[in-house]
Amino acid sequence: MTPLAELLADRIRRYGPLTFADYMRECLYHPTHGYYSKAEAKRFADYYTSVDLHPIFGRLLARQFAEMWENLGRPEKFTLVEAGAGVGRLASHILDFSASKLSDFYRALDYVAVERSASRREQTAGCLKRHAEAGHAIVSAEIPLHVSAGCFFSNELVDALPVHRVVLLGGAPKEIFVGFADGRFADHIAELSTCAITEYFAAQEITLCDGQQAESGLEACDWITEVARRLERGYVLTIDYGHRAAELFDHHHMRGTLLAYQDHRATENYYASPGQQDLTAHVNFTALETWGKRSGLQTSGLTSQTAFLLALGQGNEFADLYDEGQGEAEGTKARLQLKTLIHPEGMGERFQVLIQQKGASGARLTGLSGIEPRI
Ligand SMILES: C[S@@+](CC[C@H](N)C(=O)[O-])C[C@H]1O[C@@H](n2cnc3c(N)ncnc32)[C@H](O)[C@@H]1O
Repeated sequence: MTPLAELLADRIRRYGPLTFADYMRECLYHPTHGYYSKAEAKRFADYYTSVDLHPIFGRLLARQFAEMWENLGRPEKFTLVEAGAGVGRLASHILDFSASKLSDFYRALDYVAVERSASRREQTAGCLKRHAEAGHAIVSAEIPLHVSAGCFFSNELVDALPVHRVVLLGGAPKEIFVGFADGRFADHIAELSTCAITEYFAAQEITLCDGQQAESGLEACDWITEVARRLERGYVLTIDYGHRAAELFDHHHMRGTLLAYQDHRATENYYASPGQQDLTAHVNFTALETWGKRSGLQTSGLTSQTAFLLALGQGNEFADLYDEGQGEAEGTKARLQLKTLIHPEGMGERFQVLIQQKGASGARLTGLSGIEPRI
């Protein structure tokens, strides 16, 4: 039993089974024992993200954000909010590149790196020191209350938001809670804890098959609603792995999409070592679009990371991949890293990019130029 397992078992003994969302929230974000509350060195043992591969990811994103700023009429201040900024690596790639290559944009840039974990906020502050001193970056635990012109974006945040688990039994949806009996955690099936789950599936016209398990990402709906409310004019860009609802809840996903990651291995053993493994669920992009639309966000497009990065990079033949004074061997290594980012069998097709907008001009964004508009 990990220290967190002891705490959770005690809580279940006293108050009864936990919703999976509560269990996942504690496993990932408990202030002392949560997986994301710990120092980052641990994370590399479990998985890496696009950000860890090469700064080209941040550099191409910077180009996309600069174009958004242009589309908004070059406002004097462009607030770029990165939610779930981790240790600030992506933020520093975007800010460094903007400072050196996109100087007009950098002058307008007000970067807000938002991170829930205190230890990660501290690491981010160290990473962004130069830009903070220049008045272009701050680190925060919360997203800003109001953004008059800008973009909210995230990379692998939404898959880390807690989900409820549901199973359809005899035609009726039931919830899978987390119980504790005979010295171990186990699924506990009971009535739904909230009617928001019924509304989640109904609003997206999702029907499950009998016996099918699925996740209900209520926190992602709250997240996009809140972002839309706080954004006056601009964009929301979400990068993550997932699908639209029709695919996410089809017969290929009879057991849902929840996974536990430890030591680069994915398992369905969600109850092993609470607080010491990552828990994630695929992102339901239809939910982000549906709840976004209710709060005034229009979908600009959903595309694969491959198409997004290719569209942004091919204009200058991926010149942003190279640093001054770089040798041939480093250039070759950079090209291989780019390949992992865009290759369909690497991260390219698994990851999707959703862009939503509010009060922005209808001008097309380069990152979406490979797809038909859906507005
Ligand atoms: C999978 S990590 C991704 C980190 C980084 N974006 C990257 O790509 O390497 C998810 C991060 O989101 C943070 N996070 C989760 N929920 C959050 C919230 N509501 N607000 C801010 N940060 C959050 C976690 O603490 C964690 O650092």
